[in-house]
Amino acid sequence: MNQKHGYKMLALSLVAGALLAGCGSGGDTIESTSPSTLGGSVIKGPVNDANLTLRDMNGTALVSVLTSNGKFTLPQITLQSPYYILESMGGTYLDEATETNVTIPQNQSLKTLLSKDEIEQMISTDTPAAITPETTIYAGLVEALLTQNPNKSISEAMAEAETIIDKTLIEETSPLSAVPGDKFLKQGDLTSPFPKDQTEAFARNRAISFSYMTRDMGLSPEEVFTLIEKITENLKDGQWDNEDLNNDGVDDNATEAFGLARTKLFQDTTTKLQNGELSEGQREELRLMGFDVDRFNNNMADAQAALQAEVSQYLSSDTLPTLRRLPELTDEDGNLTDAAATYTLTAQKDVNVTIETPEGSWITPMWRYNNQALPVIIRTNRGNAMTLNFQNNLDANSTIHWHGFKIPADMDGGPDTPVEAGNSKSYTFTMDQPAAPLWFHPHPDMQTGKQVYMGLAGVFLLEDAISTQLENSNALPSGDKDVVLLVQDRRFDGNTTDQVRNLKYMDMEMDMDGMLGDTVLVNGSVVPKLAVSNTMYRFRLYNVSNARTYKFALNDGSPFKVIATDGGLLDTPTEVTSITLGAAERVEIVIDFANYAPGDKVMLVSQPFNGDMMSMMGGMNNSGSGMSGGNASGMNNNGSGMNGSSGTSMGNMDGMQANGTGLSIMRFDINSTETETVTLYSSLPSGAAIKNRLSTIDVTNPTERQFVMSMGGMGGMSNGGNMNQGGTMNQMTFVINGKSFAPDRVDEFIQANATEIWSIKNMSPMAHPFHAHAIQYQILSRNGIPASGTDLGWKDTFLVQPGETVKVIGKFEAVNQGDYMYHCHILEHEDAGMMGYFRVGDTGQLGPQ
Ligand code: C2O
Ligand code: CU
Ligand code: CU
Repeated sequence: MNQKHGYKMLALSLVAGALLAGCGSGGDTIESTSPSTLGGSVIKGPVNDANLTLRDMNGTALVSVLTSNGKFTLPQITLQSPYYILESMGGTYLDEATETNVTIPQNQSLKTLLSKDEIEQMISTDTPAAITPETTIYAGLVEALLTQNPNKSISEAMAEAETIIDKTLIEETSPLSAVPGDKFLKQGDLTSPFPKDQTEAFARNRAISFSYMTRDMGLSPEEVFTLIEKITENLKDGQWDNEDLNNDGVDDNATEAFGLARTKLFQDTTTKLQNGELSEGQREELRLMGFDVDRFNNNMADAQAALQAEVSQYLSSDTLPTLRRLPELTDEDGNLTDAAATYTLTAQKDVNVTIETPEGSWITPMWRYNNQALPVIIRTNRGNAMTLNFQNNLDANSTIHWHGFKIPADMDGGPDTPVEAGNSKSYTFTMDQPAAPLWFHPHPDMQTGKQVYMGLAGVFLLEDAISTQLENSNALPSGDKDVVLLVQDRRFDGNTTDQVRNLKYMDMEMDMDGMLGDTVLVNGSVVPKLAVSNTMYRFRLYNVSNARTYKFALNDGSPFKVIATDGGLLDTPTEVTSITLGAAERVEIVIDFANYAPGDKVMLVSQPFNGDMMSMMGGMNNSGSGMSGGNASGMNNNGSGMNGSSGTSMGNMDGMQANGTGLSIMRFDINSTETETVTLYSSLPSGAAIKNRLSTIDVTNPTERQFVMSMGGMGGMSNGGNMNQGGTMNQMTFVINGKSFAPDRVDEFIQANATEIWSIKNMSPMAHPFHAHAIQYQILSRNGIPASGTDLGWKDTFLVQPGETVKVIGKFEAVNQGDYMYHCHILEHEDAGMMGYFRVGDTGQLGPQ
């Protein structure tokens, strides 16, 4: 070191380039410097040709240089002041979110503030300075705090600014929650393709997130600088106060917007990883941040190939069981044609169910209604007055919740109206909504997941004048060609040769994230076959799994038509080659087997898809190594081979297959020819409610509500992504708007008959199916992109991907007064508290007990 009267000689080599508008994708590593020089990086995408100036706190410029590829080297100077501002003005960079070249407006800068001590320490350790959007906010905050309170020392202001940033822009925005390395960073070469540690990886990732945030707010890339200034100004008082950041007339929450941007970036990056599109440096960055990168060495193509191999085995197999049709209950009121219907549903345990599979069969004791081996169907007409007598013969509280029904709150069967063991309740209401594939299931407090998993769920097919007319005029397949397919994944103990196999529920630590089984049941059978003729069939496809998402498709890629979503028929049948269904979502599809000849076979599969980032975290890895120490019993060998081989490349373990694993669902055997009598409708008759977009019906200033879904307690992400550091998953929390379910708290108050817009945002690392009771929504947009295709149907449950915002509109009908639930329909999340009450109308009496 060159020392002179206590002042250190300094050569700053700053790397400018990646921190100004997004994240530093490209960029070179810092050139080797002599031990007496300081290196640095400017990240907004490595910034080129910026004017980099070192000045003291009086604003006196000491030296200026140009940046190149995000880097710069300052000539040696003598440090005479205790604090310095390092500021990068102008220049160009490649914006990460939009992949456009951006010229930084001349009056805009990125900067940082360093003490002489810090500079000396950086020189002695040969550490470069980092200039990022965050350090820019930091330097601006320090200046603002000093202006606010001139008595404050600079070092106090620096500590305060750092705390503000750590809290509002880092801790509260982390989709991974509480990772030690995710913290404010002033030093490091953020233009290097290989971050040196977790803190550097996160800092660069956050720098890129500013680019995403800018894009997602509808701003142009260069407007990031104005955004940075606004955020700085807003945070002066130590907290975020909502403010209109993008001049759209609506106040924004920067913490939330930045959190969503970070989530979206993670999700995009993990998708690229699974597609094999990341550089070694980017993979290392993800690895450092805690993702199990190596598990995804096998890419999507391998997963596809594995599924195809499994499918070809099943296509030629002659041991597939025959699809069972679900039993339909009969109206008990003695009059099948009046506008009233009565049914009894008795819930009971230990109903022995024979599970048929291609490898033989076994018996599993399940919980069922009416002693039936399979879930039952109730079919009724719009306008009917229903009496549904529920008898609870379980030894725990239960309810029947009518999922997707517009009915009064006291008949809704939520956790606030439990029916105790041995007791009964009569649910009475009138069906007044369009024909739809509805369903029902227990909804007791904290036991919903278990009771549904054990086998309690039923199908409720509502018909109306329109659906009946379409069937009668041969515009819809009906009768034998109208088939309910109830899809559920389960986990069994023992192995395929055992006579009795019990269901296993929540026996692995990761089941808290959502119960996934390794065996898919379709109407109670494993990979069943259905004989069909070469005509059109209507399948009512129900995802009644606790947590799994399916991407249904035909194995040969043939298109099919989606004709209905959760709440009713689509105005226009929509042709697709696959349809993704989250837990509790339903569609009706029409498959036309006309292009097949007798003897042909085609399979319904769930295609492999990019799992969410959750499935890539250390603790979720399926090799078993990431599980908390020694807890391997739950995943010990229990009969693999059952429709499981396709899982190998996307991650499977005995007893469980990750979300996104390719799966064989069932087979269609084309065994006869028949003259087609059906011409599928192309547009619903006038009068169908779905023809009206609620947003175009005169609604003046609908109330808008925000729901942010997030997860916490994943502290195990430290240590480079390995969760086996002692059960951190146990503290996992699932919240909406920061709140966990409380039986005595109502979160939202809604006027009767109101039409409202709800924005559901997912700031967590996994996809969540959002559901609200008593309403059918129309989706307006996803991440600002207007709804189209199957999103144009009525929805009571819809998947929200990490980083996604889904905007929906819905009308709370007059009949819907009282307290209802909104929640994630991953039942383990719901049971863990990812749920809340909303109250419709000013009823006073109804509500949480
Ligand atoms: Cu299927 Cu609370 O819902
Ligand atoms: Cu529901
Ligand atoms: Cu969830």
